[in-house]
Amino acid sequence: MSTPVIFGSDHAGYALKEQLKTYVASLGREVLDVGTNSLDSCDYPLFAFKLCDLVLEKNSLGILICGTGLGMSMAANRRPGIRAALCSNEYMARMTRLHNNANVLCLGERWMGPGLGESIAKTFLETEFEGGRHQRRIDLFDTL
Ligand code: RB5
Repeated sequence: MSTPVIFGSDHAGYALKEQLKTYVASLGREVLDVGTNSLDSCDYPLFAFKLCDLVLEKNSLGILICGTGLGMSMAANRRPGIRAALCSNEYMARMTRLHNNANVLCLGERWMGPGLGESIAKTFLETEFEGGRHQRRIDLFDTL
């Protein structure tokens, strides 16, 4: 059984979060949502950290969305064990799973349409880490 896909956003990523939740559920994946739950202005680090804690607890994958994707990726990468990648295309999404074993995908609603978001999310969720020399390199994040 596959692990749930965990979603989080601030107000600027809320609409895309709702669209992508429906899309990812249609792929047959269980979806969890740590908020936000409206378009009311809020602070993205709160949702980034909530999502990261759940991703680590469930050993799962997460998708974080804000206006640009930048703030979410900066906040998420502060959590040890989280490898968050801001991706603007499917190639980046595929490579960050294959080589970086990214466990959080960051997207920006203000520059990306829902079709591109769906395509990037699908690629991210369906690509497996290659391991091998890439595991050695990831291990250096915590040992150097
Ligand atoms: C909110 O206005 C915006 O700053 C936020 O969504 C995000 O883009 C920050 O990096």
